[in-house]
Amino acid sequence: MSTNALKLKVAERIEEPGNILHLRLVEASGAMLPTFEAGAHLDLHLVEGSMDLWRQYSLCSNPATQDAYEIGVLLDPKSRGGSLAVHRLAQIGTTFEVEGPRNHFPLEETAEKSVLLGGGIGITPMLAMAQRLHALGRDFVLHYCTRSENVTAFRGLIATAPWGSKVVFHFDDQAAEQRLDLVRDLPAPAPDTHLYVCGPQGFMDWVISTAEGAGHAKANVHREYFSANVDQSGGGFEVVAKRSGVTVRVEEGNTIAKALAAAGVKIEVKCEEGVCGTCVTDVMEGIPDHRDKFLTDEEREECSMICACCSRAATPTLVLDV
Ligand code: FES
Repeated sequence: MSTNALKLKVAERIEEPGNILHLRLVEASGAMLPTFEAGAHLDLHLVEGSMDLWRQYSLCSNPATQDAYEIGVLLDPKSRGGSLAVHRLAQIGTTFEVEGPRNHFPLEETAEKSVLLGGGIGITPMLAMAQRLHALGRDFVLHYCTRSENVTAFRGLIATAPWGSKVVFHFDDQAAEQRLDLVRDLPAPAPDTHLYVCGPQGFMDWVISTAEGAGHAKANVHREYFSANVDQSGGGFEVVAKRSGVTVRVEEGNTIAKALAAAGVKIEVKCEEGVCGTCVTDVMEGIPDHRDKFLTDEEREECSMICACCSRAATPTLVLDV
């Protein structure tokens, strides 16, 4: 168990519609939990047989509470094993090693207006944000988009929440006027208006490009990717691990982190698809070919960091500070 890990026990397991498992996790010792900020996630360690995975899940509970953390986990048939494992392993009383909470998706708490857009399982961080914005007395609206009303999770929680009237449901199988219409539903761009988007990649790409195209500043369009389709194509290149004195070749289909690990140089990885930031490594020479969803546009342009779990090289050689 790593030094900053928690040992959390499943206290409640609720099967929500849409194959979403809503878990309430408490400290196994009964102690209070560290505080967290809206938008934060937990890293869950999933170990069973030969499986040894870390997966990230956004906290959906009220950031003001410290007796439990709540997360929602979508059973994704296309997943690489994480969601299946959580649905199978997370029985009442099961304990998990957990790291965090960590926040890569913070709220601008002083914003005059906040618009939260959650698609499917992307609702989870929005629930924590809604609770925080309500507690602060801020102006906000939460657009919650799903395929159909009968696969919409957390409706009971939203129906009884004091901020429930701020939630606008959009179901794909309903009439056009009931579906999310970004021309109608996005506010006019303003320096003090902030948008937050989380959900499937297509949903996020649509919201982000529409919002930025409508004039919302990039810095005001906040995003959190749960997973991403990583493009691993491209020719081989050389990676020099400067501090370790090791040079490896990364061929197509392999990753920098795996090639270095095989040569005895460990870069910690968790999501392995460029969304969590665990593997970010300093670049000393060469130009990265960024394939991740974690770094900001400014960080990409600086070329001083790379997500070693998925990104590649635009130059024949990359020199890394490992
Ligand atoms: S391990 Fe998550 S971004 Fe690389």
